[in-house]
Amino acid sequence: MSNEEVFFKWSPEYSVNIKTIDDQHLELVNILNRLFVAVSKREGEKAIAGILDALVSYTQTHFALEERLMRQAKYKDLEPHMAEHKKLLAQLDDLARKHMLEDKPIYFEMLSFLKTWLKEHIQGVDTKYSAALQQSGFSVAAWEREATAEFALMSNSKKWWELWKTA
Ligand SMILES: [Fe+2]
Repeated sequence: MSNEEVFFKWSPEYSVNIKTIDDQHLELVNILNRLFVAVSKREGEKAIAGILDALVSYTQTHFALEERLMRQAKYKDLEPHMAEHKKLLAQLDDLARKHMLEDKPIYFEMLSFLKTWLKEHIQGVDTKYSAALQQSGFSVAAWEREATAEFALMSNSKKWWELWKTA
């Protein structure tokens, strides 16, 4: 993939200073980029549906892990953050349904919506919880060690991008 073709270019300014979370955000960006390529090159419904599935399941897994981190750290804004996650998943579901009902595919609408959402979510509420956790003295390093081991055991934690790259 050449540089001009990158739909969502990762930038260090998106870091929330928690490596596990950054890695997962980057993976979500990679999945979105993969989706963009598939849509642009008209790889077909089946391929695209597979990528969308990966996007949804990885998002669910990532949200679950993030929510666990905030819960363990007794983060005060856990509830509104969880509500944002829930809303996005419902919106994704809506878009998928709308897509099936429309004659014309709405992939580009979906892609730009997801890109904006992810960017704003990371730089907004994700950055806020990360800063609050680090300031409260919560041991992010210890949590990360535990999370990495646990995440590896979770289903849907596949490195999709790695799989696609080598396919
Ligand atoms: Fe989040």
